[in-house]
Amino acid sequence: NPFKVIVVTGVPGVGKTTVLSLLQEKAKERGLRLRVLNFGDFMLDNAVRKGLIKNRDQIRYLSFREQLELQDIAASSIIEEAGSDLKEGDYLIVDTHAIIKTPLGYLPGLPSNVINSLRPDMIVVIEADPKEIVARQQRDATRYRSDFGGEEGVRQLMDIARSAAMASAVQAGSLLTIIINREGRASEAAEQLLNAISKL
Ligand code: AP5
Repeated sequence: NPFKVIVVTGVPGVGKTTVLSLLQEKAKERGLRLRVLNFGDFMLDNAVRKGLIKNRDQIRYLSFREQLELQDIAASSIIEEAGSDLKEGDYLIVDTHAIIKTPLGYLPGLPSNVINSLRPDMIVVIEADPKEIVARQQRDATRYRSDFGGEEGVRQLMDIARSAAMASAVQAGSLLTIIINREGRASEAAEQLLNAISKL
C-alpha cells in the first residue's frame, strides 16, 4: 500500500470508536490526511444485504463459515475503498478486533488472509481497567454487550486479545502498540495514538 495502515483493536466497550473519532479531529488540526474505516460496518453491510442479520451485535452469532466469508470480503473491500482516495503518506485506520468471542469459541479477527489484505504497519491494542470497561458497556444503551461475562470475562478476553494481536503482528511483521484509554481521558489516548502513528 502507498499509504500507512494502522489496525486498531480492543475488547467491546473499551472505547475504540470514541478514541478514533477524537484522533480524526486531532489529525485534521495537524494537517494529517487520515481515514478511519470500521471493519464491522463492512461485515454488517454485506450481512444485511444477504438478509442474514439486522444489527452489528448479531455478527458474532452467525455461523463460523459465514463470519469467515464476511471477514475476508470486508478486508479486501476496505483496502479497495481506501485505495480510491488515500495517497502516499496518508493513513488508513481500521477499527476492528484481534479476537471475537463467539458462542462456539474465540474467532481471530486478524488471521493470515486478513493480514495479507490489510498489510498493517502497526497493530494497536486499546486497553482500560476491566471494571471501567464493564461500566462503559452497561452505560452504552445503544448496543448489546452484556454477553462478555462481567469483569472476569472482560479480563480473560483482554488477555486473549493481547496474545492474538501479538500473533498477528508477528505474522504481519508490524509494530504492536498498547494504548490505555483511562476513564474520562479518551482525548489523551487519542493524542498518544496520534504521536505513535506520526512517527511511522
Ligand atoms: P464493532 O463495531 O467494532 O463493535 P464493538 O466491539 O462493540 O466496538 P465498538 O466500536 O462499538 O465499541 P468500542 O470499544 O469502540 O467502544 P465505544 O467507543 O463505542 O464490531 C462489531 C462486530 O463486528 C464485532 O462484534 C464482530 O462481530 C465484528 N467484527 C469486527 N471486526 C471483525 C474482524 N476483524 N473479524 C471478524 N469479525 C469482526 O465506547 C463505549 C462506551 O464507552 C461509550 O458510551 C463511550 O462514550 C464510553 N467511553 C469511551 N471512552 C471512554 C473513556 N475514556 N472514559 C469514559 N467513557 C468512555
